[in-house]
Amino acid sequence: MNNLRIELAKNLKPKPQDETKLGFGDIFTDHMFLMDYDEGQGWHDARIVPYGPLPLDPAAMALHYSQEVFEGMKAYRAEDGRILLFRPQENFARLNRSNDRVCIPQIDEEFALQALIELLKIEKDWVPHLKDTSLYIRPFIIASDAHLGVRPANSYLFVIILSPSGPYYKEGLNPVKLYVENNYVRTVRGGTGMAKTGGNYAASLKAQVEAHEQNYSQVLWLDGVEKKYIEEVGAMNVFFVIDGEVITPELVGSILPGITRKSCIEMLRGMGYKVTERRLSIQEVAEAYKAGKLDEAFGTGTAAVISPIGHIKWGDLIMDINNNEIGDISMKLYNELTGLQWGRIPDPYGWVVEV
Ligand code: PLP
Ligand code: COI
Repeated sequence: MNNLRIELAKNLKPKPQDETKLGFGDIFTDHMFLMDYDEGQGWHDARIVPYGPLPLDPAAMALHYSQEVFEGMKAYRAEDGRILLFRPQENFARLNRSNDRVCIPQIDEEFALQALIELLKIEKDWVPHLKDTSLYIRPFIIASDAHLGVRPANSYLFVIILSPSGPYYKEGLNPVKLYVENNYVRTVRGGTGMAKTGGNYAASLKAQVEAHEQNYSQVLWLDGVEKKYIEEVGAMNVFFVIDGEVITPELVGSILPGITRKSCIEMLRGMGYKVTERRLSIQEVAEAYKAGKLDEAFGTGTAAVISPIGHIKWGDLIMDINNNEIGDISMKLYNELTGLQWGRIPDPYGWVVEV
């Protein structure tokens, strides 16, 4: 790429020696991608440089008004050594939808993907080898203007950093425990829920802390208006299998349109399951549970992969789902999704991109 400047690090950091100890998002590689935006000039000065602190004015608008967006994706190491991405075009397309929601200028999606591939070629030795590990990719854009009035910024910084990571949930494939959040609201229709922007996650922290204090992994969010309909979990979309039918909340604007969600819907339909996207109330799930018809529940996400849900508390009702074991559909999906991502099975969808 002739409009991408590359400055290589003089000293390389040691790679993690024991990949069994990899946590999530703690270690960063030797290089990062940067690109600036200035009004009148557009996006410019794309570069790969040694990883390090960002030069940022204390008045930078992202720090005050959260004008920022981010993405989460992974690079996977196949058994034959190839480095693979899963539907990366979808992440950059979603980044632009998030940009639109918080008034950040659009990026060139194809250019961003090519720049990421260049960065990954430089950092390929950082992609871990152990099963279920990957190189987590975090693209993000922040408003960098030094200005304290509330308005869209005139300058931005687009950054991509990389982090060799293990599983996001310590439970791995063991079912997680959730309770239905009754007090706090994460987002509402018309808000920013459909965008991947930091404020949504800040809004979810207090509920998450309280959930951890009660020994729950996460909370299950209901819609913020009627507090009736299931939305999602902190970092994953949710699916319920009721009487053989797979149901996932429809995208009403307050839910993040997950790429794993979209892929799972397609894969499940390919396997012959009936999959419905519609509003699903917690009452309906509770009734299905009481009638013995709640077969399975699981979450989907880049970091979370397929995460079985074994226990949901709603008020006084405890729903123990599938005896707290991973269900058949969750297992099949997990095998197909991770099979594609790690290049273990052929890709009939054209979703996998080789670095
Ligand atoms: N919902 C939220 C709030 C998330 O942060 C994520 C993770 O990105 C997801 C759902 C799942 O989205 P994806 O499958 O694109 O990773
Ligand atoms: C992801 O799944 O990539 C996410 O962004 C989730 C999270 C770590 C916020």
